[in-house]
Amino acid sequence: MADKLIIFDTTLRDGEQSPGASMTRDEKLRIARQLERLKVDVIEAGFAASSNGDFEAVQLIANSIKDSTICSLSRANDRDISRAADALKGANRARIHTFIATSALHMEKKLRMTPDQVFEQAKQSVRFARNLVDDIEFSPEDGYRSDVDFLCRVIEAVIHEGATTINVPDTVGYAIPELYGNFIKTLRERVPNSDKAIWSVHCHNDLGMAVANSLAGVKIGGARQVECTINGLGERAGNCSLEEVVMAVRTRKDYFGLEMGIDTHHILAASRMVSQTTGFVVQPNKAVVGANAFAHASGIHQDGVLKARDTYEIMRAEDVGWTANKIVLGKLSGRNAFKQRLQELGVQMESEADINASFARFKELADRKSEIFDEDILALVSDESVSHVKEQYGFVSLSQHSETGERPMASIVFTVDGKEVKAESDGNGPVDASLKAIESHVKSGAEMVLYSVNAISGSTESQGEVTVRLQNSGRVVNGVGSDPDIVVASAKAYLSALNKLHSKADRVAAQG
Ligand code: KIV
Ligand code: ZN
Repeated sequence: MADKLIIFDTTLRDGEQSPGASMTRDEKLRIARQLERLKVDVIEAGFAASSNGDFEAVQLIANSIKDSTICSLSRANDRDISRAADALKGANRARIHTFIATSALHMEKKLRMTPDQVFEQAKQSVRFARNLVDDIEFSPEDGYRSDVDFLCRVIEAVIHEGATTINVPDTVGYAIPELYGNFIKTLRERVPNSDKAIWSVHCHNDLGMAVANSLAGVKIGGARQVECTINGLGERAGNCSLEEVVMAVRTRKDYFGLEMGIDTHHILAASRMVSQTTGFVVQPNKAVVGANAFAHASGIHQDGVLKARDTYEIMRAEDVGWTANKIVLGKLSGRNAFKQRLQELGVQMESEADINASFARFKELADRKSEIFDEDILALVSDESVSHVKEQYGFVSLSQHSETGERPMASIVFTVDGKEVKAESDGNGPVDASLKAIESHVKSGAEMVLYSVNAISGSTESQGEVTVRLQNSGRVVNGVGSDPDIVVASAKAYLSALNKLHSKADRVAAQG
C-alpha cells in the first residue's frame, strides 16, 4: 500500500478557540459537511466535555458525517473521556483524543502535578478510553518543550495501554523546522514500541512556521498525520493551514512521495465558508486561497503565463476550486442554473426549502448587481439568515445621508424578536451613524474591537463583506454581513454580532 499522509482537521476544535470564532451547532455541521466533501480523514468536531453546546455539536456531527472519522478532544480524566465517548456513539468511526501537559513548566505551574502523577494519569486515561473506543489519540501538551526522556517514558506507556496515534504538539509555536523534525525522529527512534502507533504533528504558528514545522515533522521525523485547520484558523497566530500543507505535499510529491485522500477541488469553498462563518478574513496574499494567490499583475508574468502556464504557476487554480470563468450567473439565471452552480461549488443544501430561500436571496441580489460571481454565491449561502436558527435581531432597511461638511445621519429599521423597530442617529460617518442607531435601541454596551471591510470579488461593483468583532463581559464574538452597499453590510454584521453575543449556551469555546 502507498505511504499515506492522514489529514486531521481541527478547525472545529482548535480553530474555534480563536477570539470570536466560536460557532453554533448548525454552523459546525455545515463546515463538517464541507470537510467531508474535501475527504478529510479525521474531523476533530469539538471538545465534548467543555459545554453542553459542544457536546451536542460533536454528537450531531458524529450522527451526520459518515465518510470521515469523527474525533472529540478530552482532558485525561474519566469524566471527559466518558463525555467524549457518549457524544461519539453515533459515529461510523470514532476517535477519542486525550491530552495532558508534559513540559516541566506546564506540569508545575498549570497542573501542579509531579511528573510521576502526570505519567500515571496519562496511562490510566488511555487505558480507560481504550475500553470505550478502539481509536485513541494521545497528545502530550507542550510536547515540544518537554524533557525528551520523560516524554519517551510517557509515550511508551500510553502506546502500551492502547494509544493508536501519538501526536506531538508544538503548543506555543516555538519550534524550528529542522529541530522539530529531528525531535519527532528522536522520539520514534527511542520509544521501543513506536512502530505500534501512527505519529502525528500539531504545530502552532506563533513564529510563522507551523506549516514548515509540520512538513519537517513528516519528512525528517516520519510523521504520517498532520493536524491542521482551514485558513490556518486558531488561537493567537493560528494553526498549520490545511490548504498549504496539502498543496505542498501534492505539488512536491517528487520530494514527499506521499498519497493523500483529499479532494483539493473543494478547498476554496471550505476556505470561504470558514472565513464567512467565523469572521476571520483571508488576507489577499494568503497562499492557495487568498484573492491574489493566482493573480499575475506584472506584465512579464502575464506574458509568461499566457505563453506557457508553468513559467510562473506551480499549481493549477482550478485544482483548488478557483474557476477560470468567474462571471457565473445573472438576473435571468433560473433556479436550475443556480442549483447546479451550488453543486459545482461543493455547497450542499439541507433541503429544497433551503435552496428556495437561497434562490430568492440570489434573485434579490441579481436585481441590484448585474454580475454574480462565485464569491457572491458563497457569501449568500453562508449568510445566517438562510440558516434555521431564529435570530433575535434581523436587518430590514436602512437610509443614510452624508455630504461633505455635514454630519452624516442614518435611519435603520430592524427586527427584535420578529417586531420591527426604527432607530436614528448621527455619527462620524454613515457606518458609524448606522451602528450608533442600532446601539441606541439595543444598548448592548459592547465594545467594538475590530471592524473590517473586504470586497468579495475585487471591484467596486463587488459586494462588501464586513466583519465586526464585539467584546462584552469577557465574551468575544464576530459578526459578518455582506451587501453591495457597505453601510448595509456593516449594519448586518453588527446585528449578526449582537445575535451571537446574546445567544447563550451554544457559543462556549472549547478550552485546550
Ligand atoms: O496545541 C495543543 O497542544 C493542543 C492539544 C490539546 C493537542 O491543541
Ligand atoms: Zn493546538
